[in-house]
Amino acid sequence: MKDKVTIHTLRKFKTEGRKIGMVTAYDATFARILDDAGVDVLLVGDSLGMVVQGHDSTLPVTMDQMVYHCRAVTRGARRAHVVGDLPFMSYQAGVEEAVRNAGRLVAEGGVGSVKLEGGREFLDVVRALGRASIPVMGHLGLTPQSVHKLGGYTVQGRSDEAAERILADALLLQDAGIYALVLEAVPLELARQVSERLEIPTIGIGAGVHCDGQVLVCYDLLGMNPEFKPKFVKRYADLHGGITGAVQAFLEEVRSGAFPDAAHSFSAPVQPRPVRLVPAAAKDGAQEEQGERLGPVYGVPV
Ligand code: KIV
Repeated sequence: MKDKVTIHTLRKFKTEGRKIGMVTAYDATFARILDDAGVDVLLVGDSLGMVVQGHDSTLPVTMDQMVYHCRAVTRGARRAHVVGDLPFMSYQAGVEEAVRNAGRLVAEGGVGSVKLEGGREFLDVVRALGRASIPVMGHLGLTPQSVHKLGGYTVQGRSDEAAERILADALLLQDAGIYALVLEAVPLELARQVSERLEIPTIGIGAGVHCDGQVLVCYDLLGMNPEFKPKFVKRYADLHGGITGAVQAFLEEVRSGAFPDAAHSFSAPVQPRPVRLVPAAAKDGAQEEQGERLGPVYGVPV
């Protein structure tokens, strides 16, 4: 596709002062909708461990699961650049393992780049991925895979010392070759400083308006979970309400017999004879039913 977003497009957006819109996606249907809406970057985030799988952290997400979801999202995406998260323990144990796992997300999952959490401790991994021609997005500030070390999901970089460390890590990651950096849950003044010092784009989540782009978890921005309302999330829809209303209407019609009506049912051109049991041998030459073609079922036309 001519205007497919690449890592180079994102750098150009920063130079032109055009803000980048990134949203998480975990399946082909959402990927297609978000892509059609004009999202620049689709992140197959390991947040799927929480919003799709129902865990209370991202830690249980496996490489196989990430490959599976990346493959689904890349099938649905057309224009957007797709980034796949490297899950917990897929890159922490060593450079060679990191390269193999990132390679799986690209080769099997079809993503255009990978994201990893952490700073100076992973510069060797970032460089090795660069040598393997795998672009890397960094992630600093609140890094959910370090939840136990951080002692919870809390704002990072509030002290001078912590802010200096984040800025220094950002510069080191840029030198090591990352093409963009997620800043999560840091004060907006720090995010501004980092964004001004870096040549590569920053993408914020709970990091204020000065970042070069913003990312939100799609379920959060669409209002899928009314119980989850952290300060940094703005809901742009009430899908929880919309879905609940639609499903209740369906149930009501099922229970009253109003659904399915004639418009949603198939009928035979002539009244069918009463079905007679066919001997088992007839199975061999099973005949294809002639008639109305359904095409693919379950939603996504191909
Ligand atoms: O996993 C994820 O969805 C993320 C974003 C929220 C930045 O890392």
